[in-house]
Amino acid sequence: MDKATFHNEISKIVAEHRLDQHPYVKLVNQGKATHEQLKGYPIQHYEMTVRDSASLSASVFLRMQEIEPGSPARGAAKSFAEEALGIYSDSAGHCDLLFELWEGGLGLPKTQLKKAVASSDAMAFNGCMYRLLRLKPQFIGAIGLMEEIEVDAYRMLWKGMERHYGIGLQHLRFFTVHYEADKEHGEAGHRTIDHFVTGTGREEEFLAEAQTMAHFFWKGFDAMLEV
Ligand SMILES: [Fe+2]
Repeated sequence: MDKATFHNEISKIVAEHRLDQHPYVKLVNQGKATHEQLKGYPIQHYEMTVRDSASLSASVFLRMQEIEPGSPARGAAKSFAEEALGIYSDSAGHCDLLFELWEGGLGLPKTQLKKAVASSDAMAFNGCMYRLLRLKPQFIGAIGLMEEIEVDAYRMLWKGMERHYGIGLQHLRFFTVHYEADKEHGEAGHRTIDHFVTGTGREEEFLAEAQTMAHFFWKGFDAMLEV
């Protein structure tokens, strides 16, 4: 597959799954989601990406270092420092940021989020990341595409929660921090894809994996409506 076609196919996957178009995100943004539905985001996202954000990003660094020591791996180390500790955003580890929303914003006990059982689609999305990490580390840039898919949704979610549900910005740092961080992560994802996939003959295989991840990410958001 030539480079232009490959890039075009990647853009299509991103465009078709952008979460600012998702009904859940629109409902929260417009203040039409119920309080029960507000809990859906932390519950599903905790399973999909947040619970494992520190260990996953550390594993990404180690795996990249294995397949090619050097620059792409260094980028992954920065992402670990941010996910685990909030070093670059000067905030907190991203898991703690989600707990801030749960406890401070929704007034719920942390143990309830830790014990919540997410949907099978959210579990499948989480599994997709471990699958790439273990079986196809050259495709890890697909995770950056997921960050690109969500970036505009963060803004819609915090605006909606602030305006319609009276949640203070101090409890919405999960969204404000990710909005800033994931703009850069999306670009880093494209660089990683070009480095490890473009021109290797594995483009179609990569697109199938990215499509699968994006599918379960979207379905994970569907589950937020059903909580
Ligand atoms: Fe994060």
